[in-house]
Amino acid sequence: MSTSGQLHKDQRPAALVTGGSRGIGLGIARALAEAGYNLTVAARDPERLEKAATDLRSTGVRVQTQAGDMAEEEDTRLLTRAHAEAYGRLDVLVIAAGVGTAGDIDSLPMRRFDKQFAVNLRSPFVLLQETLPLLRQTAARNPAHGAKVIGLSSITGVYSEAGLAAYGASKAALRSLCHSVNAEAAKDGVSATAISPGYVDTDMAAWQHDRIAPEEMIRVGDIAELALAVTRLSPQAVVPEMVVTRSGGMSA
Ligand SMILES: NC(=O)c1ccc[n+]([C@@H]2O[C@H](COP(=O)([O-])OP(=O)(O)OC[C@H]3O[C@@H](n4cnc5c(N)ncnc54)[C@H](OP(=O)(O)O)[C@@H]3O)[C@@H](O)[C@H]2O)c1
Repeated sequence: MSTSGQLHKDQRPAALVTGGSRGIGLGIARALAEAGYNLTVAARDPERLEKAATDLRSTGVRVQTQAGDMAEEEDTRLLTRAHAEAYGRLDVLVIAAGVGTAGDIDSLPMRRFDKQFAVNLRSPFVLLQETLPLLRQTAARNPAHGAKVIGLSSITGVYSEAGLAAYGASKAALRSLCHSVNAEAAKDGVSATAISPGYVDTDMAAWQHDRIAPEEMIRVGDIAELALAVTRLSPQAVVPEMVVTRSGGMSA
């Protein structure tokens, strides 16, 4: 845990972004970098992560990378410690790393179920266990802004979609976890928002291209814009949920 001396070693706010090497996580990381946040970005593939970091550094902020698998508890804990050591503060935690496998309830292999719950729910729980003390400390030192958690849920965690039962259940649980952060820590200036979009045009949604054209999907920039808006709110305004549907209906 950081000391008060460490907290002020860099006056810039600091954010930790999981899944920050591409897709929605990278889009949010870029928006935060442009807003002046120092960053820790994390993902498994170290080369792609370093490429993303090089791009983010062009904004002038500090960017450290930490490669690791969020399915592994130890990697998740190491990531949070690396962030605390580098910056001594955590203004925004973005939980974007996630995995999805399609399969009906009666045929989905349980190892696929376990993997989705490990990355989409267990790792966020561990991340919060590790970071809530630093989030609270940062909020206490910056009462005008507090500290924020942004969890990338999914519209399938709000409205069930056939073939995505395990993924949807893991994302519904992530929404619940964000609500629990608000129940336990909003009084301390730490609030959480679950963003639940329909299909966003990233690698993860590419398997749907024969059904939905990329240009009909939500833009990464749209989600980054919403995430950035949350970070600008006072601690008095708590936004537990943002549901983002594609034009055309209340489905993914
Ligand atoms: N795209 C959509 O339509 C959509 C809609 C609703 C919600 N979401 C959610 O939004 C989040 C971001 O999705 P996306 O579309 O940006 O996905 P993406 O393009 O597939 O990117 C996923 C990111 O997470 C990292 N990642 C994946 N598995 C990981 C693991 N086990 N450990 C550490 N990092 C891991 C990836 O890097 P590495 O592969 O190098 O690890 C990458 O940086 C996810 O939680 C997803 O469920 C996506």
